[in-house]
Amino acid sequence: MPGRMRNPPSTSIAEFQKLLKASNRVLALCGAGLSAASGLPTFRGAGGLWRNHQATDLATPDAFEDDPALVWLFYSWRRHLALKAKPNAGHYALAELAKKNKNFMCLTQNVDGLSPRAGHSPDMLRMLHGNLFDVKCFDEECSYIEPNNLRDPLCPSLAPASEDYPVDQTLPLLDPKKPTPQIKHEDLPQCPSCKSAGRTSLLRPGVVWFDEPLDEAMLDEVDAWVKKEPIDVMLVIGTAAAVWPAAGYTEKARTKGARIAVINPDPNAQKGLTSNDFFFDADAAEILPELFDGVIGKLEIPDQAN
Ligand code: APR
Repeated sequence: MPGRMRNPPSTSIAEFQKLLKASNRVLALCGAGLSAASGLPTFRGAGGLWRNHQATDLATPDAFEDDPALVWLFYSWRRHLALKAKPNAGHYALAELAKKNKNFMCLTQNVDGLSPRAGHSPDMLRMLHGNLFDVKCFDEECSYIEPNNLRDPLCPSLAPASEDYPVDQTLPLLDPKKPTPQIKHEDLPQCPSCKSAGRTSLLRPGVVWFDEPLDEAMLDEVDAWVKKEPIDVMLVIGTAAAVWPAAGYTEKARTKGARIAVINPDPNAQKGLTSNDFFFDADAAEILPELFDGVIGKLEIPDQAN
């Protein structure tokens, strides 16, 4: 926990509501904390371990090359959780803000698809780190991709990741004392395009892994948006802001005049903020509807029954 700050950020909800109402260009950077209230684990907090592996260690091309079955089981489990999860009030509030303010650009690092499912217009949402439900060829030379493949399990061998278990019991796959299911290479998802060309390549999740570049055209477009005109407010929601280039947008927005508003229950997340900025030590799902209230009005959450 940081020591007493010399110029602490404002924590006034009323002051922020006034600012947002008077704002034109608004940028947001979202992270795993936005989906925490939907029951999806974050990467770096509690729950960052998966079968004794750091979640971030499984998110690399090298990890996939070394043990594609393990990485596929990890991502299949995340696909299953995300499919079962429902967007929360934070996702809906952001989607509503995008409807009300056509100058609101939302960048999300989340690959769980909950923002699109909350009706966040794709024109105003950039999924910086890809999408769990896009499945593409691991061979960089091959352009095969299946967008929005919601099959669960993706193939029979990955079924252990899609089992539903009572909340008081551990899914066998997640118990590090139990052996990892052994899956033969040929039973993992195969690229049909490579297969018809006589090659064998595995399919992989369409997310951006560590050591991989983000989509260049998307980054150019976001940079052009940022540079175009002054920015009034930058929202930094539920992210440890530890991964680049995403983490760099806050300072870019600041150079365009933005006041920064961080929404994060971790007091360390207010590091670098000044008295001109805002810090809301809260669950994003709880506070975003209130923070946006003056622009979006009372948030209606659709009936989410499956
Ligand atoms: N509301 C708001 N913030 C929350 C909540 C909540 N209910 N719960 C947790 N948080 C905060 C945590 O305090 C933490 O600062 O969300 C942040 C989550 O941080 P990370 O787990 O590091 O997730 P994120 O910042 O999204 O990670 C960025 O790293 O692993 C890669 O590609 C992956 O997109 C991911 C990227």
